[in-house]
Amino acid sequence: MLAAKNDNRREVKNLYFAIGVKHGDLIGSFCFWISNCLCCIIIVITMIEAEGRDFRHMKIFMDTANTNEIAELADWGIVYGVTTNPSLIAKTGRQQEQVIAEICRLIEGPVSAEVISTDCPGMLIEARSLASIAPNVVVKLPCTVEGLKAVRLLKKENVRTNVTLVFSLTQALLAVEAGASYVSPFIGRLDDIGEDGMKIVEDMVTIFRNYGYKAQIIAASIRDLNHVHRAMLAGVDIATIPTKIIREMIGHKLTDAGLKKFLEDYEESLSKANAGHKI
Ligand code: E4P
Repeated sequence: MLAAKNDNRREVKNLYFAIGVKHGDLIGSFCFWISNCLCCIIIVITMIEAEGRDFRHMKIFMDTANTNEIAELADWGIVYGVTTNPSLIAKTGRQQEQVIAEICRLIEGPVSAEVISTDCPGMLIEARSLASIAPNVVVKLPCTVEGLKAVRLLKKENVRTNVTLVFSLTQALLAVEAGASYVSPFIGRLDDIGEDGMKIVEDMVTIFRNYGYKAQIIAASIRDLNHVHRAMLAGVDIATIPTKIIREMIGHKLTDAGLKKFLEDYEESLSKANAGHKI
């Protein structure tokens, strides 16, 4: 009787053990599949984010209103956007609206068009009119009190702005706090008055990173290749570069000499082959 009871207990124990092991297996495989699924979800999310992210690089804008130049360089595949100002538009001898519309047809990226009003209400009227030319128009406003007021109001209307004529860190800070999408420090013009224009750009990059500002820095008033080099080293988002300097960026005397030699060697080998010599 006692033996039978013990047998029963042993069987129940075995059964529990078996169930326990099974449960253990189930829990184990459940955890395994859950972790696999989580990994897959994380990978997919990372891939989706990576796809949509604008990877950090220095975007090249053309600093010109010359549509022939823009059309030519657009084919190079390196022009991301364009900046204009009243002086550049004046050089074309054409109406600003007409020129901006043409540039926007050539370039998909941001095209800055500057207002000439100096008071906020006037700036707003101009800004709305410029923004209606094309969806990629960015309204350029001077770094003044009236300009900042206009930036704040235009942000509410989802009009992107580029605060221009920025010559100090405090101006840059106020521009970004007002809601500017882009801030344009002028390098060359600071150099012209004996200051190191690039220094303000480098410091702006540090400050924007420190605080995680989303506004993009456009290194403007670029006068030579050294400015471009330092803009890259500083890590600016954008450099707006005159056409002449973009052309200089591609050239190097060793590239020309190397290409000349390759072609000469090729021609030589071709003539030898034609003459029946073994190459
Ligand atoms: C661009 O946004 C500026 O208007 C431009 O870079 C000014 O350049 P400049 O100082 O050579 O006129």
